[in-house]
Amino acid sequence: MKIAVVGTGYVGLVSGTCFASIGHEVVCIDNNKDKIDNLNNRGVIPIYEPGLEDLVKQNVAEGRLEFTTDLKAAVAASDVVFIAVGTPPRPDNGQADLKYVYQVAEEIGEAIDGFTVVVDKSTVPIGTAEEVTAIIEKVNPEADFAVVSNPEFLREGFAIDDFLNGDRVVVGVENSQAEELMKEVYIPLEKRGVQVLMTRVKTAEMIKYASNTFLATKLGFINEIADLCEKVGADVDQVAHAMGMDTRIGAKFLQAGPGFGGSCFPKDTMALEYIAKENGCDLSIVKATIDSNVNRKLRMAEKVAEALDGSLEGKTIGVLGLAFKGNTDDTRESPAIAIIKEMQKMGASIKAYDPAAIEEAKHELTDVKYGSDEYSVCDNADALVILTEWTQFAVLDLELVKAKLNNPILVDLRNLYSVAEVTTKGLKYYSIGR
Ligand code: UGA
Repeated sequence: MKIAVVGTGYVGLVSGTCFASIGHEVVCIDNNKDKIDNLNNRGVIPIYEPGLEDLVKQNVAEGRLEFTTDLKAAVAASDVVFIAVGTPPRPDNGQADLKYVYQVAEEIGEAIDGFTVVVDKSTVPIGTAEEVTAIIEKVNPEADFAVVSNPEFLREGFAIDDFLNGDRVVVGVENSQAEELMKEVYIPLEKRGVQVLMTRVKTAEMIKYASNTFLATKLGFINEIADLCEKVGADVDQVAHAMGMDTRIGAKFLQAGPGFGGSCFPKDTMALEYIAKENGCDLSIVKATIDSNVNRKLRMAEKVAEALDGSLEGKTIGVLGLAFKGNTDDTRESPAIAIIKEMQKMGASIKAYDPAAIEEAKHELTDVKYGSDEYSVCDNADALVILTEWTQFAVLDLELVKAKLNNPILVDLRNLYSVAEVTTKGLKYYSIGR
């Protein structure tokens, strides 16, 4: 089966590479020539994703994966074409901006040769498949094609495993020829035990938004329960653990923290709220989730101030973590960035370290000094604050941390330690919901 993937960003590159690794012939397309040259000639990947570079190199070497800027030729030669370009939020109203999807749809329409399945892989509002169909029909009334929705459920940092061993694959399809081809695309995963669910197109589009928004709401819920735990003297980690043992609730996505971030949850919750408004439907729970998360990030800076007698004025804060979560260099909508900016507003000087995200953070932060490792940010700092759950931050030499800090204060907004293990080392410990 010949597959083309348009867009070599996060979703396109992971999906294209994984399709190749399960046996398909894949060509990934991008209009950025440097990116394509780097991928073709040096196997250099433009994103940080554990395991991806090796998988790209292996599949290129085995002849199943190639990269090109020539969309026309690649689309004409393919049975299935995935659209995997960005859908960033519009700054004015949070609506997903579909200009890249529509541009690519036009180009695909002009290039189609023989029956072709065009697949929306990017996260797109409900009704986008209809729009893409109309665009292709307009540019090429002769085109023989069907548009399908196949949302992705890939977590950054775990994307390859999520692709190959996901809980489910969702395909929204209303054309039988396209359905057969999509079954063929996913047969190798079905054989590995992944469930492939066929739905109507708009249902598939809704499943993506509903899934991300539900997970975001689950996080918002446990974060608010954490706040209450602090007030009443309960332990949110034990509360979440016991809640998660109830299979109706489920244990995942119940880790309280500084708020959710990344390029998906904040964007998709806003986009769903916009879609609801457009359709005259009040999603008050979604609205509350968005507001609660925005406020939470700001409140986290106050939590740090409270650990330092109520003021950050003139204080130096050592920060561990800039990425929106561990295992990624992505700082988009990172709680760490928002909290650092808020602490700066409150008068603090910041010295930060992250194993992968410093270069990305430099685009968003000013007046921050960067350390070369975990311990360098402790030197002469008035407190150490953990903002991202990198595994290496969970095994710090706490005696060394204490020796380096001006005050023995550790604020851990990811609950990486037990209260006992920090306090027995003589540090004052402030965490979430405990
Ligand atoms: C998310 C979804 O998990 C994927 O299924 C989806 O495909 C993807 O968005 C997307 O739409 O492309 P991702 O943004 O990579 O994936 O990140 P998550 O692992 O879901 O984490 C999101 C945020 O929630 C992070 O800030 C993370 O630190 C936070 N989080 C997550 C918690 O605070 N606690 C948890 O228990 C889990």
